[in-house]
Amino acid sequence: MIVTAASLPLVELRSAFGARLRPNEPLARYTSARTGGSADALVKVSSAEELAQAAEILWRLDLPFIVMGGGSNMLVSDAGVREVVVLNKASQVAFDGESVLAESGANLGVIARQAAAKNLGGLEWAAGIPGTLGGAVTGNAGAHGGDVSLVLDLATILHREGGRKDHSPHDLAFGYRESWLKHHRSDAVLLSAKLKLAAKPAAEIRGQMDTFLAYRRLTQPPGASMGSMFKNPTGKSAGRLIEEAGLKGTRIGNAQISPLHGNFFLNLGDARSADVHALILQARQAVKERSGVELELEVGLVGEW
Ligand code: EPU
Repeated sequence: MIVTAASLPLVELRSAFGARLRPNEPLARYTSARTGGSADALVKVSSAEELAQAAEILWRLDLPFIVMGGGSNMLVSDAGVREVVVLNKASQVAFDGESVLAESGANLGVIARQAAAKNLGGLEWAAGIPGTLGGAVTGNAGAHGGDVSLVLDLATILHREGGRKDHSPHDLAFGYRESWLKHHRSDAVLLSAKLKLAAKPAAEIRGQMDTFLAYRRLTQPPGASMGSMFKNPTGKSAGRLIEEAGLKGTRIGNAQISPLHGNFFLNLGDARSADVHALILQARQAVKERSGVELELEVGLVGEW
């Protein structure tokens, strides 16, 4: 079903969501790239229960929706988004022994820092990773040899058919920046997750985090971007392939392939998503021609393209 702006039942949405509904809401401010158009309708949820209710209502109305967390791994079309956008601000975090139970809108880096303060290790790699736990679980975020699949204990998922269920990591079929959730966005919503951590002195955890953050500052550019644009092809570095294709520093409009790291695409200020997208196509083609490698996007394209 194609849902157009005109076909969104705003009256029904307003009666279901009240003041939490924001029609025609610009999305750039919610994304780390700071680009893109507006959502016809955005609903902000502040708890896992509100998230579950929103999903139930939208499924009942048969309206497609996307859940947006930190907006750090997505490129939103300049033409905006016709699906309802559910902005996930459910961010409660509770520690219990060596576990942490967090709502899916909680910021991963914040959870990592809170864990460190409680002498709990396992999330050192997550220091400096932007975005929410929900996004991190969905994309099996990782860095420095760690990733979500290695710390996840249980994921509580609301299913369109079948209601709420607790899932083990095995159910989520994790792979490199991959999970079952990534391919079931329209019929499954992650509400919360339990991570298993391990006792470790805070000073040791912080030392490791500082080393990772220092590496990140040296190798990755600051400023508005989407993080790694492409997945690393097996045994290769997307950034290096883009560098070898001679594209570092390439600019279209106010979008630029970082001169520091080839896999980071920057918004230099008021960039259009279309310009970022043109750089994506240029990089894919140049790398294909030079190295024969088909780069696969890690970033999700959201909205009308
Ligand atoms: N390299 C180049 N040219 C470049 C960029 C990198 O030659 O322009 C080389 C580096 O010198 C290094 C190798 O490529 O030898 C790998 O680069 P780097 O260590 O910077 O890491 P990466 O493979 O580019 C991955 C993750 C990052 C994560 C870092 C640190 C992916 C796609 N990227 O980057 O994750 O922060 O390792 O662990 O898996 C993300 O997924 O969004 C992300 C930022």
